[in-house]
Amino acid sequence: MTEQHSAKNILLDSRDGILRIQMNRPEKKNALSRAMYQTMADALVGADRDDSIRVALITGTEDCFTSGNDLADFQAAASSGNERKLNPFLPAISRMKKPVIAAVSGPAVGIGTTMLLHCDLVFAGTSARFQLPFVNLGLCPELGSSFLLPRIMGHQKAARLLLLGEPFGAEIACELGIVNEVCEEGKLSELAVGAARRLAGQPPASVRLTKALMKRAHEKTLQEIMEEEIEHFSNRLSSPEAAEAFQAFAEKRKPDFSRFS
Ligand code: COA
Repeated sequence: MTEQHSAKNILLDSRDGILRIQMNRPEKKNALSRAMYQTMADALVGADRDDSIRVALITGTEDCFTSGNDLADFQAAASSGNERKLNPFLPAISRMKKPVIAAVSGPAVGIGTTMLLHCDLVFAGTSARFQLPFVNLGLCPELGSSFLLPRIMGHQKAARLLLLGEPFGAEIACELGIVNEVCEEGKLSELAVGAARRLAGQPPASVRLTKALMKRAHEKTLQEIMEEEIEHFSNRLSSPEAAEAFQAFAEKRKPDFSRFS
């Protein structure tokens, strides 16, 4: 895809020490294409290198954070097997040294939820709906979520989210520990930007050091698990179970997994 495509669907704005990344593909519920991942990854990596940027803020559009990976891209990539291995957004967000804030409205599906596990502050409007439908799609968890979710909330709560793959609301996400605060939709931007401004005013080296120290104990394990997940995820993309799930989505019907063992 061309740069023009990515620029249209990811809006970037750097001001007052804050890099704002907006996922903006409303006609597909902000589904993330390869070009969009690349633009977001480049922006994050660039922010870590740019002394004028102190914090990144990720948002979607007014009524949607993101519906996750573009399912048509998944279907198209099923034969290549390299889809996840080559996705630059996964290392970029998981290795980000500067703080990242997310403001979530509406659906945050798949990577829309797993990317939050790598953010430092997460704010959600009351309309936010989270979902981890990897199993529903014949896939497996990614972006370290098979490790991070049980670590944040315990095995049973994480198993419910990952094995049943049902949507859950902002209050539950807050109780489970993946959202800091829930607010009325009209106050979300103010809340997230306010936190970003306060972070941008903190001593930057101290902020980076504190983030690194908080992640230090599990950083190596996380990266190893992410690599393992990517290997499995890439294989699952070409599995018959995933093929049935992608086909069902394209045909707007329920998938039928009854013939699989
Ligand atoms: N990839 C590609 N297209 C997507 C998409 C995705 N992840 N999510 C939504 N779209 C498209 C729909 O196909 C539809 O396109 P169309 O108008 O050409 O038919 C359009 O976006 C609007 O989606 P729709 O399902 O009608 O919106 P909704 O408000 O009823 O539901 C969601 C929103 C996000 C809950 C729903 O679209 C959904 O569950 N999407 C799939 C999420 C998913 O499985 N992501 C992958 C995770 S690994």
